[in-house]
Amino acid sequence: MADANRIRIFDTTLRDGEQSPGASMNIVEKVEVARALAALGVDIIEAGFPIASQGDFEAVRAIAAEVAGTTVCGLARCNDRDIDRAWEALQYAQSPRIHVFLATSAIHREHKLKMTREQVVERAVASVRRAKGYCADIEFSPEDAARTEVDFLCEVVEAAIAAGATTVNIPDTVGYATPTQYAAVITALRERVPNIGQAVISVHCHNDLGLAVANSLAACEVGARQVECTINGIGERAGNAALEEIVMALKTRADYYGLTTNIKTERLYPVSRMVSTITGLTVQRNKAIVGRNAFAHEAGIHQDGMLKERSTYEIMRPEEVGVPKTDLVLGKHSGRHALRDRVTELGYHLNDAQLEILFDDFKTLADKKKEVYDEDLVVLIEKHIQDV
Ligand code: KIV
Ligand code: ZN
Repeated sequence: MADANRIRIFDTTLRDGEQSPGASMNIVEKVEVARALAALGVDIIEAGFPIASQGDFEAVRAIAAEVAGTTVCGLARCNDRDIDRAWEALQYAQSPRIHVFLATSAIHREHKLKMTREQVVERAVASVRRAKGYCADIEFSPEDAARTEVDFLCEVVEAAIAAGATTVNIPDTVGYATPTQYAAVITALRERVPNIGQAVISVHCHNDLGLAVANSLAACEVGARQVECTINGIGERAGNAALEEIVMALKTRADYYGLTTNIKTERLYPVSRMVSTITGLTVQRNKAIVGRNAFAHEAGIHQDGMLKERSTYEIMRPEEVGVPKTDLVLGKHSGRHALRDRVTELGYHLNDAQLEILFDDFKTLADKKKEVYDEDLVVLIEKHIQDV
């Protein structure tokens, strides 16, 4: 029996992530990323949208055939051609999943699909059944679920499960939800859909209001057991929930959430670097977990605290996410304690008088320069070491 407290990590870097403006990957790069995701321990890799292009089809087929140890998923709209094409690409996977989606909100029904509620349910059911004819593992997504009338959402989800969906994903397609409201939608599904126990509830949040991670975690608190996310949070518009943030929030606050994942967290930083290099999408400096500043401390008070006891200002060890070590950045906010430590690390032993002179010079330089590097310090030390 599956562990009731384990969150499945569904990575969609290669599908929703690749929909980021400016990001695109060739087949060789996609297979390389998929292998890294499998080694990271993700449960499901959404490898692409096979009907979208020949390139997407071939990438999904290659990943399905070559990447083992994880479920490989392909996306399809609710129509026969999409579903057949998805299966064509996925058929050689060790553990294939077809993911079908159809919009359910009134805005999408009226303006995009021009379909009634009844037609939407009928199409969703027919598509889940068709996909089920190919494999056992079927995910259904009512697109724009977070803006769908809750009674109708319950109706569609119930029908999709009855037709054979084993995962029901609740997308906040346009990043409109707020944590409490989104959690209430998940709670309503759990309370009102009679067959909900036969499927895993999944969440898929976009970051238009900067709430994708908060919304996903709020949903996990009330029973969602799969989170869809991407490395570095890349994705359409403002992106998707960032995998590394979800995983480290669950791990660091296991005391609060009581939930686990299968992710080998020490691989997070290397995979983040790989995705950034391949897509050309740089990671902002202050990005949580994998940004350059995520484990860097500059304030003198913080550096002093860190040198005395790391837990004063550090809630995660950098090694846990694959960052080699904490960076005490020497800049104008740094104090004597950090300077003395760095001088010793560089192999110099200065007495108090020497250190005072060096400290004055260091502050003058730091006022002019954002960051004082080891090379700058060596020049200052060498210059003064003879004078004192
Ligand atoms: O955001 C969304 O609704 C999607 C679906 C295809 C799941 O990406
Ligand atoms: Zn999406």
